[in-house]
Amino acid sequence: MKVAVIRETRDGEDRVAASPDSVKKLVGAGLDVCVQAGAGLGAAIPDSDFEAVGATVAADLSASLDGADVIFSVQGLEGVDASKAKNGAVLLAGLNPYVERDRVDAYASAGLTAIAMEFVPRITRAQSMDILSSQSNLAGYRAVIDAAAEFGRAFPMMMTAAGTVAPAKVMVMGAGVAGLQAIATAKRLGAIVSATDVRPAAKEQVESLGGKCVMVDDEETAAAETSGGYAKEMSDAYKQKQAELIAKTLAKQDIAITTALIPGRPAPKLITEDMVKSMAPGSVILDLAVEMGGNCELSKAGEIVEVHGVKIIGHRNMPSRLATDASQLYAKNLMNYLLPHVTEGTVALDFEDEVVAQSCITKGGHVVHPNLIKAKPNLIKAKEG
Ligand code: NAI
Repeated sequence: MKVAVIRETRDGEDRVAASPDSVKKLVGAGLDVCVQAGAGLGAAIPDSDFEAVGATVAADLSASLDGADVIFSVQGLEGVDASKAKNGAVLLAGLNPYVERDRVDAYASAGLTAIAMEFVPRITRAQSMDILSSQSNLAGYRAVIDAAAEFGRAFPMMMTAAGTVAPAKVMVMGAGVAGLQAIATAKRLGAIVSATDVRPAAKEQVESLGGKCVMVDDEETAAAETSGGYAKEMSDAYKQKQAELIAKTLAKQDIAITTALIPGRPAPKLITEDMVKSMAPGSVILDLAVEMGGNCELSKAGEIVEVHGVKIIGHRNMPSRLATDASQLYAKNLMNYLLPHVTEGTVALDFEDEVVAQSCITKGGHVVHPNLIKAKPNLIKAKEG
């Protein structure tokens, strides 16, 4: 059976859904892997590296999709008529279904079996397939690097003959995968780090990385985590208490990295304009949730804006800013998802498997995922500049 690896078309998307390592294993499992020419260039993987491990290279998208039984992609079929793919083909990608609902309908109409990799359940067995973790981890690291680059001061304390440079104070909001990596990175650079979250489990994790946890502690906190490990949307009373706590803490910070998300909902608003005003000139906010509506009232997707003397960074697609590493990990996630369903070069997804059942969003001409059958189209919008 043929696996097509397509070249991404979204502006600023440099990742690719396969690596020489993953292709080698797929070819070893008896699959014909066909990579669209130039698909790996953004991630510094030339076509020849794919050919060297047994892939063929197709000149263009039509040639790569032609007859493909499985399609590997980062962003799904963007700007591509889904009906160009073979009816019944399996599409594996990050499909962002709550934001790009129109495309989900197009996959259904084209008869594709679309797998939204971000819906893979967070069970132990599926950790190696978890694109949210692999990409968020890199995003959290890069967020600190980008914030440090915009910050006109140093991170570590330096005692020199000419005087002492004070350490930077960094606050991380949302201590999930990205947030924990941001805490670790900021600590490594020498900053004094605090963090906030709504899930009680986050406290111990923040502290184990040397950060100080600043969080509302009431009876609602105890129930803030869903059975899947995600945060719930909190009540207005909680939000009020949290806003007061954040306002007090943020005024003393130099840098805020915000990563807070609630699956299927717009990102919670944690930093208001008044809070931005309270920060010292030269402070930096990096809003990693900007594409899900933003944690800061003033951030703009794809822009760095300066308001009240504070730089607010709203880079889109943070993992693509580390395209080589992000592609290596993403490629492995997709390969790990597919291989258990391959026997002697034939792919047959087991729809009884809970990983497949929970991540398959279209099949046999229909949208099949319960969250999407209920959800309104394009529920969440990025904050445009
Ligand atoms: P996420 O990307 O959905 O959200 C980021 C963080 O924002 C979370 O920690 C969340 O609690 C926090 N948040 C949400 N609303 C907030 C608010 N109003 N104020 C402050 N913080 C807020 O989360 P992510 O990174 O995907 O992790 C979710 C959970 O999944 C974590 O418990 C993580 O440890 C767990 N996990 C489990 C894995 C497994 O395979 N067992 C793999 C990866 C993560």
